[in-house]
Amino acid sequence: MRDSEIQSLLTELFPDQVAVCFSTGQPSESDLLPEELAHTKKMVGLRRLEFAQGRACARAALESLGLPPDAIPTGSNREPLWPEGVVGSISHTDGAAAAVVGHGAQFAGLGLDMESAEPLGDDLVELICRPDEEGRENGKHAKLLFSIKEAIYKCIYPTVQTFVDFQEMKVKVDAGSHSFAAEAHTPACEQALVNRLEGKFRIAGELILSSAWLRSR
Ligand SMILES: CC(C)(COP(=O)(O)OP(=O)(O)OC[C@H]1O[C@@H](n2cnc3c(N)ncnc32)[C@H](O)[C@@H]1OP(=O)(O)O)[C@@H](O)C(=O)NCCC(=O)NCCS
Repeated sequence: MRDSEIQSLLTELFPDQVAVCFSTGQPSESDLLPEELAHTKKMVGLRRLEFAQGRACARAALESLGLPPDAIPTGSNREPLWPEGVVGSISHTDGAAAAVVGHGAQFAGLGLDMESAEPLGDDLVELICRPDEEGRENGKHAKLLFSIKEAIYKCIYPTVQTFVDFQEMKVKVDAGSHSFAAEAHTPACEQALVNRLEGKFRIAGELILSSAWLRSR
């Protein structure tokens, strides 16, 4: 699948006001700004490049929203620290990176996840899926639940400001509309879902693409 096709699919996964950038371009550490370099000191090889590729995408997305391409340092739970008034999300997989950004006045959070469409290993199903989650016995569906939950986590993190376990959220997929419903199972997650969380997914060849967003009140 061509980069432009994946870019279009990702764009369709989010509301119109969200800027999206997907890239398989050769990353370079020179893409990083001084505030970001501190966080890369303990990273090695490909991880440094993946981080740089994600930051380059994020800056391209900021620019397409008409915002300056500012630094995006990293917080204590690995979360990207977006410029004031901005929310966003980053994902990378297999030499590709993508980022989405939106205005905080419109969105309380955005979540993006890209995963290989390989089935989830049997050993991980108990960890990722709740006992009452539909489709968990199918490895491909379980992998989709995994990706959706990672997108949800990134989306709600600015609200909950804490780690959220996979068991804390139940996801029900609507295959026909490529969307899902999320049900919170802890008070912290309930709080995060006060504004209804929305999201979509797409399986594009070897890639699962998942989105989540929370509108601002
Ligand atoms: C953090 C996590 C979601 C990253 O997902 P991944 O598939 O490993 O990797 P991806 O490439 O898709 O995403 C990595 C990016 O996520 C972003 N990210 C990491 N932690 C984050 C957080 N707490 N909040 C928001 N975004 C976060 C970062 O931008 C990171 O890239 P960077 O380090 O280069 O900046 C995953 O490793 C994790 O810890 N999951 C457990 C929590 C969870 O998903 N719970 C589900 C609850 S419903």
